[in-house]
Amino acid sequence: PTHPIVDKLQRPLRDLRMSVTDQCNFRCRYCMPEEIFGPDYKFLPKEKLLTFEELTRITRIFVSLGVEKVRITGGEPLMRKELPALIRMIREIDGVKDIAMTTNGSLLAKHAKSLKEAGLHRVTVSLDSLDDDRFGQMNGRGFKVSRVLEGIDAAASAGLQVKVNMVVQKGTNDQDVVPMAKYFREKGHILRFIEYMDVGNSNGWRLDQVLPSHELVARIHREMPIEPVKPNHYGEVASRYRYVGEEREIGLISSVTQAFCSTCTRARLSAEGQLYSCLFASAGTDLRAPLREGWSDPQIREFIRDYWSQRKDRYSEERLSNTPGLKKKKVEMSHIGG
Ligand code: GTP
Ligand code: 5AD
Ligand code: SF4
Ligand code: SF4
Repeated sequence: PTHPIVDKLQRPLRDLRMSVTDQCNFRCRYCMPEEIFGPDYKFLPKEKLLTFEELTRITRIFVSLGVEKVRITGGEPLMRKELPALIRMIREIDGVKDIAMTTNGSLLAKHAKSLKEAGLHRVTVSLDSLDDDRFGQMNGRGFKVSRVLEGIDAAASAGLQVKVNMVVQKGTNDQDVVPMAKYFREKGHILRFIEYMDVGNSNGWRLDQVLPSHELVARIHREMPIEPVKPNHYGEVASRYRYVGEEREIGLISSVTQAFCSTCTRARLSAEGQLYSCLFASAGTDLRAPLREGWSDPQIREFIRDYWSQRKDRYSEERLSNTPGLKKKKVEMSHIGG
């Protein structure tokens, strides 16, 4: 039986985003800059990672509190061994309606088929440019665009629904906005533009690096007319636009210029079992110890219920009014997967 709950701002708990590893084979400048995530960086040791059994148990408890969507994130989730086995376990849980994964796509050509067979519904692939030089710079490891495009094609051929995420940084890749839109319009995949955010403390974010979504919409509209479309569901993160006269669409994720905290239904779990109530939280709450110290399911459920009922995070809505306060300590993106 499910016992849906709401937080202090009346937001239900609907989505669980769980990171399965803090490691990544990319070093995107805006997420894991090489100077910080270098050869000496200490990633989580294996014994600290939640096991698939623990992740499945946690998911079952979250589902009993109202969660319907599960998103698997990283780091890069495909760096975790045997990931399809986890998906198979999650698929068995009654009440899970949607299982998605956010990935950089570099290992997708290899794994798409087994992920689909395991029961994954959708992938969201990150890609910031179609230009090899710029993409190689941005991913910090010289990975080629073709490698990700092949991953996207493999996912689509395997029958996975595909969306593409592009983080737009003014002065870095904003010249790629229109070419990306054209390319994915032809391919038939939804491309979502994400405003560059001040996640974590290592990317040196500045407001003048953000290309506001309304400017981006105007740029695309000049080349290919678009019109707004109504949201698919309560709390949808992206605002949708459609190419006039077509079904094909794009999305805008405007966390900086149009915050969407008022309908934020997402709980985030790090690979070591810390629970976060916001992408910009300073600290998490440990669930690994309770899992490993013999708490019963009802005890853990009550703990999560209390935690959610105290929740009042709305960082993105507060951001613009507190720019000087940006020094706050924040969890790193690679730790909770965005
Ligand atoms: P759908 O289920 O396909 O609608 O996907 P989603 O909106 O959950 O998409 P995804 O996980 O791909 O999110 C895209 C990006 O939006 C994330 O990687 C983040 O950069 C940003 N984002 C998602 N959720 C939040 C959030 O709660 N707060 C903020 N500030 N940004 C978010
Ligand atoms: N701002 C916006 N999006 C980001 N992502 C990672 N770091 C940032 C940031 N600072 C995106 C990734 C990926 C998703 C997990 O979040 O590109 O699409
Ligand atoms: Fe890896 Fe994604 Fe972070 Fe890039 S944004 S370093 S691909 S986790
Ligand atoms: Fe949710 Fe925090 Fe993002 Fe607002 S800033 S939408 S509360 S995760």
